[in-house]
Amino acid sequence: MSGRETKPITPDEAGRLKSETKVIDLYFTPCEVSEERLKAYKTVVVVDVLRVGTTIPIALSNGAREVFPVTSIAVATSLAAQLGRDDILLCGEREGRLIDGFHIGNSPSDYTRERVRGRTLIFATTNGTPALVKAAGAPKVYLCGFINLPAVLGMMLNVDNQFPLAVLCAGKFNRFALEDAVCGGMLTKQIQERTDGQYEFNDGARSALMIAREFGNDIYTLLKNCDHGRYLIQIGMEDDLPRCAAQGVLPVAPVMKDGKLVKAE
Ligand code: MLT
Repeated sequence: MSGRETKPITPDEAGRLKSETKVIDLYFTPCEVSEERLKAYKTVVVVDVLRVGTTIPIALSNGAREVFPVTSIAVATSLAAQLGRDDILLCGEREGRLIDGFHIGNSPSDYTRERVRGRTLIFATTNGTPALVKAAGAPKVYLCGFINLPAVLGMMLNVDNQFPLAVLCAGKFNRFALEDAVCGGMLTKQIQERTDGQYEFNDGARSALMIAREFGNDIYTLLKNCDHGRYLIQIGMEDDLPRCAAQGVLPVAPVMKDGKLVKAE
């Protein structure tokens, strides 16, 4: 994951983002956009289908109080020490597996009510949580997967003027992830269908709309065949895929408040 860029946005870019037109920009990986530029959007939706955009909504739905996304294992353990509370669970993955010394990995089925109800989660994953931290400076930040796309859409359309909007795909190791592109494209399409007015898309958003048309009809097959889905199958986590493919089954939209994710009300 690249460092925390501070490159300011150019006057032209600032002007474009302030225009009356509804701007939707989509980035396939976090390295395509600086932290500074993300702050200029009214709303950023972080998409990470496999798997944190599925596990964190499930954890919040099962009663987890809040989720601190962090960029590394070291930050996770020092934050846990700093908070010093016994309701904390260290969660996340490296190479898709449970991190040594952590309580829970990143399989959706691990986030049961018994394990997470009333708990504070500190979450460190390879791509999804660093993308959330990068976006944290924007006024509104949501976390989206296929499981909760309608909930995120509903929350966004409920507030006034969520534009300019950025869809930030977590990708995998700063590489394009097909499943995130399809989910981001579907979200972009549904925003366009649900609101009227003049839109302006960047090349990423235009491309994601086409990718979603091509691959959006059979999400489970998409997840079984994409790079990261095949990797998860290879390491014995194929049971996660149907849960990550369960479109719209969870009415929970995680939203960032003071650096932590909570259930949007
Ligand atoms: C990620 O951050 O990309 C995912 O959470 C990785 C995974 O869960 O396998």
